[in-house]
Amino acid sequence: MQLVEKNFLAQNQRNQNLIQKARGRVEDFYRLRSAGLLCKSGDFFPSVHYPPITMYPPITEEELFQSYKVPKDGVFDVYAHIPFCRQRCVFCHYPVKLGENQIEEKNIYLDALEKEMDIYMKRLGVDKIKARSILIGGGTPTFLTLDQLKRFLDFFTDKVDVSDCTQFNYDVDPLTLIDNDGLKRLEIMKSYGVNRVTIGTQSLDDNILQKMNRHHNAAQAIESIKNCQDLGYIVNIEFIFGYPGQTLENWIEVMDSAVALDVEEIQLYRLKVEAYGDYQGPIKGAKEKGMMGLPSIEETLMMKQIAIDILAENGYHENLRRVYSRERKNYSHYADNQCCGLLDQLGFGLTAFSSLRDRFVLNSQDFHEYYSSIEAGKMPLNRGYIRTPEEQMRWSIILPLKNRKVWKSYFKEVSGGYDLESVFQQKISNLKEWGLLVEDEESIELTKLGAFFADEIAQQFHHIDFIPFPRDAYEDGILSPYNHNGV
Ligand SMILES: C[S@@+](CC[C@H](N)C(=O)[O-])C[C@H]1O[C@@H](n2cnc3c(N)ncnc32)[C@H](O)[C@@H]1O
Ligand code: SF4
Repeated sequence: MQLVEKNFLAQNQRNQNLIQKARGRVEDFYRLRSAGLLCKSGDFFPSVHYPPITMYPPITEEELFQSYKVPKDGVFDVYAHIPFCRQRCVFCHYPVKLGENQIEEKNIYLDALEKEMDIYMKRLGVDKIKARSILIGGGTPTFLTLDQLKRFLDFFTDKVDVSDCTQFNYDVDPLTLIDNDGLKRLEIMKSYGVNRVTIGTQSLDDNILQKMNRHHNAAQAIESIKNCQDLGYIVNIEFIFGYPGQTLENWIEVMDSAVALDVEEIQLYRLKVEAYGDYQGPIKGAKEKGMMGLPSIEETLMMKQIAIDILAENGYHENLRRVYSRERKNYSHYADNQCCGLLDQLGFGLTAFSSLRDRFVLNSQDFHEYYSSIEAGKMPLNRGYIRTPEEQMRWSIILPLKNRKVWKSYFKEVSGGYDLESVFQQKISNLKEWGLLVEDEESIELTKLGAFFADEIAQQFHHIDFIPFPRDAYEDGILSPYNHNGV
């Protein structure tokens, strides 16, 4: 037998093994769904905040800051949002302004963003913000002219003290990081201390990228990754699975290509068709019109398990939920501080959010509203929520459990004195019995099986007013989030 043919057969066998193994997760899905853990329809809701941001009432600036104290060390994680993109991706649920010719609008936006930072700092009573970590997101925060990029980084680093900042990350799409201008952008960002990029790669299959209406192809995504690597950035790349047109076979190819890129981190997102914020992206309409080739829930879950196995074969392990890295030190500090450390964060810009210990606030999602609040000297708040002691206690378990681990002592401190075992005794024991969670003297954490269904386990601890799907969307089993939910 020729060597090429032998290699082909070996590869084929390995792919079949991956697919076979992933079928086990589908069995888990059926079992856990009939116990009530997962929604009957198989839909999911990403647990990224508690309570979910769509469920907050309006809030005023006065209410937000009433009794709030800046942390003792005066340090925050800082987010800034720049909501402009070249064109709308089919899956995208973010409010953004689209098109090449938005130069003037971007200047107006940068003026407003600068003013917003001043208003916020005045409210906090600080003349500079000490940053623990920084994340600049969007939209496409690099979709600015070189002068605008410099202007933004000038005023931002003037107001934010980056001297003790452990990580300065940009969330970007590939197209702004290639060619001459792309390299110049990366040089500029580097000169202001940016040291990590998260690149929305989404797929490395041109056919899928086209179906997503992405503005780049696979070769351009790879070029942007190489440019960042050549300049010494830590590189994290993001993929969506469960997208129309994806099959188990082409997903394996994409993951094999991804691990060959030698990036520090790879992040996976299951396609969310329904919006999880206010804005519904085009994917729902496309699905309703019968967009061809949407993988079944079973195939989607298998894609996730296949990716986990390919990543593990290549030394990538889950450090934060859905984020796989070879070395733990390269994880997103911003996400870790938010989800595991539960530390205070400030957000600036349209749709940005701030998490201030026991309260959470979301900025306006509408450009006009955003500009006019700032013009009137007010923070552009849309809604927010100050957690009750019980909600604070629930918040203290939800994101750390989903993302890594809950230390019982830290839970007690952040929740204001609750004992983890006494408040959620029944819940924890049910989850342990089903092999979803392990406990020792000091902590609780998810098992591999639990980690696979981490969003749904996090939702076990939501108050019944904040569970993403109604009671009858789940089987009335022992693991329904509505059962054993009291404190
Ligand atoms: C804040 S978004 C924007 C990133 C950047 N604008 C880009 O498109 O490259 C971060 C990531 O969320 C993921 N994402 C966005 N919409 C999604 C959806 N509807 N379902 C699943 N993942 C999604 C994508 O992988 C995206 O790169
Ligand atoms: S996915 Fe990213 S690049 Fe695409 S429209 Fe949304 S924010 Fe813009």
